[in-house]
Parts: sequence; structure tokens; C-alpha cells
Amino acid sequence: MGSGSRKFLTMAAAAALFAAGLAGCSSSKSPTTPSGNSTSAAPKNNKVGILLPDTASSPRWVSADPNELANQCTKYNLDCKIYNANGSATTMQTQAQALINAGVGVLLVTDLDPGSGKAIEDLAAQHNVVSIDYDRLTSGSTNNSYYVSFDNVKVGENQGTALTNCPQVKGKSAVNYVEIDGAPTDNNAALFKQGYESVLSKAPGWKKLDDQTGQWDPAVAQRVFTNMLGAHKDINAVMVANDTMAQSVINVLQSQHLAGQVAVSGQDATAGGLDNVMAGTQCFTIYKPVNGEADVAIQLASQILQGQKPQAPTTIEDPVNHRQVPSFLATPTIITQSNVALPVTDGYVTAAAVCSTPALVTLCKKFNVPTP
Ligand code: GAL
Repeated sequence: MGSGSRKFLTMAAAAALFAAGLAGCSSSKSPTTPSGNSTSAAPKNNKVGILLPDTASSPRWVSADPNELANQCTKYNLDCKIYNANGSATTMQTQAQALINAGVGVLLVTDLDPGSGKAIEDLAAQHNVVSIDYDRLTSGSTNNSYYVSFDNVKVGENQGTALTNCPQVKGKSAVNYVEIDGAPTDNNAALFKQGYESVLSKAPGWKKLDDQTGQWDPAVAQRVFTNMLGAHKDINAVMVANDTMAQSVINVLQSQHLAGQVAVSGQDATAGGLDNVMAGTQCFTIYKPVNGEADVAIQLASQILQGQKPQAPTTIEDPVNHRQVPSFLATPTIITQSNVALPVTDGYVTAAAVCSTPALVTLCKKFNVPTP
């Protein structure tokens, strides 16, 4: 097992503990004055419910997002309850009901699938609770007042562009590649795919050999890529949608003594992904800084709770009901060996998580990543 997987299991264990309880936050500090359309309405309350999807698809749901969401809740003097549904839509529904019963005024929802997300947002609306889609659009919902995410087509375009620039394939006149996509139940997976296919389908000499979903699941991705490699010995590049699934691809390549020879993509700037970038087994990852997402979502929640109706800078069209959803979309950053330190210096991941073994400390020093 690669060092990335080892760390991931540790984080998953921490997540299980985390998910079993409730990460609340409150503080006695004065609220920061948010910008936005002001009204004289008194705050209904200061309670925010946050529903995160799972602990297995990406460490972001275990550490980066809950940590930063909790920090921001403290900053805005909000009483936030953060739940993780551990991959179960039924659990998320129960958690939503509990949060609504507890009197939250705003609910942040990262759905597991559009149907269950819509049911939660419909229930919230019946109780005058405002829903914000966090990271993933709950397509088909009419009760998501806002969508806070990254420009996810841009994420995919960045992935496609960065893949064509990997040293293993750059300048080659013929490149065979395969795609391992995210879960089809996640609207983002479709947007990422739209982005990377728009680049790769036009890249001169690039030929797609296979295209399957890895379901955001490392075990599924491992099985899918094992089959792909069995069927095609001549794969030069793997367009895999996030770091967790990239680790599975790298594990399979390692078992065939091919790691580092095939261009592998990623996303999420996880500690394991950054380790693989430094080691050269993964060409890049996509960094989505939490300040573009968690910070924006919590500020928005604070404004809503103060009776404001904030204006979103843009809208995106719901692909199911074609509604224009008011949206805040942040810009992603490509991370290669040249800027691999950034997610650590930003505080998105800890030096301890990235430089977790003596060999990784050596790599961290080589790439100017602060060491623990
Ligand atoms: C997406 C998210 C990615 C990744 C993936 C798996 O919706 O935008 O950052 O985490 O889910 O959880």
C-alpha cells in the first residue's frame, strides 16, 4: 500500500470518530460585519446545519472542509453542527431532520445524489430553512437558494490541459489514454468530465481507449483500472477525476512496475496526492482552496441569518429543471511539482500529513514544502 493510502486510512478512521459525533462551534466573539444588502431584520437565530457526504471519496470531507467550515462558523459567531452521512442518503435525511428539529435557519447540503438532496431541501423549505448547495449542485431542486462551489468545468479543463503537459506525454505525436470519471450521481463529475473531454478530445494525436466511472470509490477505481490495463498494455495517460481514485491507479501501476511512466491526473490536493506529485507517480492535482468555498458559504449563511438577501455574482443553469441558480464559483489552481508547497503554506493540508515519513520529509525538502 502506498503512503497516500496509509494516510488516507488514518484519516478515514478519524472521520469515523468525527462522524459519530457532532462538530459544533460557537464563540462569544462579536460577529464580523458581512457585506451584502442590509436590512433591519433581527437575526432569526445563529444556527447552521452542514451536511457532508462521505468519508471515503476524498479526505477533503474528513479534514479540509469540516475544519475550515468550523473556523468560519467561529469567526461569524454561528452555532454550526457539521454532520457527515458516511455515504448513506438515509443517514443524511435523518441528520437533516435532526438539524431542522434543532431549529437551524440555514442548511448547507453536499448531496449524495440529486433525489435525496432534493428531498432534504424540500423538507427544509417547509420549515422556512434556507438551503445552500455546498460544492455539488442538487440538480432538479427548486429549494436551493444558492450554490457555492468552484467553476467545475474549469476544474476539468485544467485537468485536461495539465494532463497534456505531463512529461510522460508532452511532445508525443500519439498518446493513448483512458478516463476514470467520478460518480454519475454527483453533478460535479459531469462538469469535470465536460471540462477535461473538451480539452482531450481536441488534443492532437490523443486517442481514448476506454472511459468508465470509478464512482469516487478507491476500490471501484482499482478494479476498473486493473481491467483497463489488462485490456490495453499501451496506456500512456490516465485521466482520473480525483486524488483518491488516482491513488488506486498508481497502486495498480506500481504492481506492474509502471508507476511514473504513465501520466496520471488528480484533484483535491490531498496529502496523498501531493506526496504522489512529489514522487512523480502523479503528474498534478487540482487545488480548490477552502477560502473560495467554505469561507464564502459561511459568510453567506451569516448574511441570510441576519435577514439579508445577498446577491450572487453569477448563476448556473440547473441541467434538470433549467432554473438559474444564484452561484458563487471560485477558481481552481493546478498543482505540479513546481508549486506543490502551496496547499501546505496556505494551511489547506498540514506539513505533518504531507511529510509523514522520513522519505517524504526528504521529498518535502527537495520541493520546498515546509516540514513538520
Ligand atoms: C466532488 C468534489 C471533489 C471530490 C469528489 C469526491 O463533488 O468536488 O472535490 O471530493 O466530489 O468526493
